[in-house]
Amino acid sequence: MEKELMSLHQQAAQELSAVNDLNELQDAKVKYLGKKGILTGILRNMGNLSKEERPRIGQMVNDIRIKLEDIITGRTEELKEKELLIKLKSETIDVTLPGRRTNLGHKHPITLTMDNIKNTFMRMGFTVAEGPEIENDYYNFEALNLPKDHPARDMQDSFYITPEFLLRTHTSPVQARTMQSCEPNSPVRVIVPGKVYRRDYDATHSPMFHQVEGLVVDNGIRFSDLKGTLELFIHEIFGSDVNVRFRSSFFPFTEPSAEVDISCVMCKGKGCRVCSGTGWLEILGSGMVHPRVLEMSNYDPELVSGFAFGMGVERIAMLVYGIDDLRLFYDNDLRFLRQF
Ligand code: FA5
Ligand code: MG
Repeated sequence: MEKELMSLHQQAAQELSAVNDLNELQDAKVKYLGKKGILTGILRNMGNLSKEERPRIGQMVNDIRIKLEDIITGRTEELKEKELLIKLKSETIDVTLPGRRTNLGHKHPITLTMDNIKNTFMRMGFTVAEGPEIENDYYNFEALNLPKDHPARDMQDSFYITPEFLLRTHTSPVQARTMQSCEPNSPVRVIVPGKVYRRDYDATHSPMFHQVEGLVVDNGIRFSDLKGTLELFIHEIFGSDVNVRFRSSFFPFTEPSAEVDISCVMCKGKGCRVCSGTGWLEILGSGMVHPRVLEMSNYDPELVSGFAFGMGVERIAMLVYGIDDLRLFYDNDLRFLRQF
């Protein structure tokens, strides 16, 4: 019996020293010291022993129990510490790792150009007006002296939504909208930035593009005011060494009318794909507001006169940044967009 107990002690001590974590330790503890454990079983069977043996064996079993409990206490401490260390290690932050960069966006080149145009005119005392992109036939055409069946409607191939409504083909409808919202004959000095739509598609034409309209109406406004304003604007945007050309043209809503070209920045006027070999690039249409247009918006052409212009923002951006295909602005290729 004593021998048995001694080898049991040894076996238990070995097992307890060999466990790797708290769970295993608990299992081993239950196996030897639990209610149904081996050592407890021996104590319970003491009745089978002789009177002389009983106290000795009892004493021995108790000694073993105390020793095993000591081992368990020690191992518990040790294993707790070990598990804490593992946990800490899994939660450590490597402060030497490089941080993750957040990608900062920035303004699209067309927005940058638009802002630049707006600021230039605002410094000249213009205010900003806006109008709807879905426009009716009256404002897009009729109020601009373009009656139904007028052949000049063909100049701007349009996207119709219904026979009455279309995507505006230019920002000029806001001319009439602005005058009609003012006291008749009161002075106007606005620019109108916005999106416009046409059935166009090539290196210098896209189906959606941006225009900035300008309208100035007051007593005694003359063509020289138009020229001076636009020349000042162009030299602000492109620098003073760019060549500007006023080319006589036709718009039903202006008389006389002029289109403004600037020397092609891509080829310096030699002729290339962008300027279709002419050395010039058209950036805007302009003219003196037609008396009919003033009349239709309750302004009296005997009392006031005005000038108007409408420029293509993409064309200006192409020239400012030296881009030879307008469609690049809308491909959303980040390698392109990140350069601005
Ligand atoms: C007009 O749209 C007139 N409303 C401009 C105007 C306003 C004249 C006020 C007189 C008084 P035009 O169709 O030429 O005109 O267009 C004006 C400018 O828009 C052009 O000079 C060009 O720079 C630009 N543009 C025209 N079509 C496109 C297109 N599909 N893609 C990009 N830019 C375009
Ligand atoms: Mg034109």
